[in-house]
Amino acid sequence: MKPYNLEGLALAKKLLESGGLIGMPTETVYGLAANAFMPKAIKKLYEVKGRPHYNPLIVHIGHLSQLEVIAKPLSPLMYQLLEQFWPGPLTVLCKKRAKISAAVTAGSDMVAVRMPNHPLALALLRSLSFPLVAPSANPSNRISPTTAQHVQDYFGDQLSYILDGGTCQQGIESTIISLDRQKIVIHRPGAISKEALEQFGIEVQYKKDQLITAPGNFSKHYAPVKPMFLTDQPAILQESFQHKKIGFMTFCPPADGQLRGRVFPLATMAEDYSTAMRQLYSTMHQLDREDVDLIIAERLPEIGVGRAINDRLKRAAVRQFIFEKNHLEAYEFTTING
Ligand code: TXA
Ligand code: MG
Repeated sequence: MKPYNLEGLALAKKLLESGGLIGMPTETVYGLAANAFMPKAIKKLYEVKGRPHYNPLIVHIGHLSQLEVIAKPLSPLMYQLLEQFWPGPLTVLCKKRAKISAAVTAGSDMVAVRMPNHPLALALLRSLSFPLVAPSANPSNRISPTTAQHVQDYFGDQLSYILDGGTCQQGIESTIISLDRQKIVIHRPGAISKEALEQFGIEVQYKKDQLITAPGNFSKHYAPVKPMFLTDQPAILQESFQHKKIGFMTFCPPADGQLRGRVFPLATMAEDYSTAMRQLYSTMHQLDREDVDLIIAERLPEIGVGRAINDRLKRAAVRQFIFEKNHLEAYEFTTING
């Protein structure tokens, strides 16, 4: 990582001021950043990402004072949450002010805001007189990028510049929440777990129905090009693919000889959820480049960020196989392009 890439910062600033799109590191995944107050730049961003216009963007800020410009007054409870979790991988839904255009929020009166915890992103945001919209820097429905190289491979010359901030420390997207009176409602599980939010001392729930019809909330998303199957029993499922080359993505290294194919464990030690989270997307990128016909991914226990990892795996998988008492249940996921 180059935390003092001053020349890169100055260039990124200049390009963003003149309406350019840049790849920006954050602690979660790389973002595709543009001036949040410049309609032309926002339009270009939607085009380059191939993102449907009804899927809104997260606004990134570097100072709390910027919040007042884009959001209507927040409750004291929201400020306490921000004090605890910002800068960091928490995105909050707030009532938007007129300064934020309908193109950013896809017509909603709520705007999603976060302050990323990455030295380069913060330095860049604090040097600008406007906030940045930044969706993950992948074409719609593809695997999110966790290195500058991933962004380069996806977009190459379509971007004005990619600010290289090394490998993302968290590795999956921010947790998106709203406040419903005295309750925290999770709209997208992410790098901050439900358990971590509960330590704040108030009730935390998952949103039951989906807030908006955005691809991030559809089944097929974050997907490798190779077909990926999700299961709690990779050793059993492999028997269904006798003549295929299989790439396995497991939580920890399996016992010797258990799996037939190339195995990519997300962590070396059991229960190391944060390493698994950090390795998730880069392992998916790697498996896509391997000489395998298909990918079998192992489901993690639904504990802590294990839930967010499973959420991404489910969206990436073409099918999910859950084995219960020697009886196979297959859940098929529909593909919805966006
Ligand atoms: O960690 C992250 O959040 C990364 C980094 C780059 O900051 N960004 C990211 O952005 O994941 P994106 O665009 O890939 O995902 C944003 C999600 C989408 O599912 C979108 O539907 C939801 O946030 N979202 C954005 N604005 C919203 C709004 N006003 N109301 C509800 N959901 C919103
Ligand atoms: Mg995304």
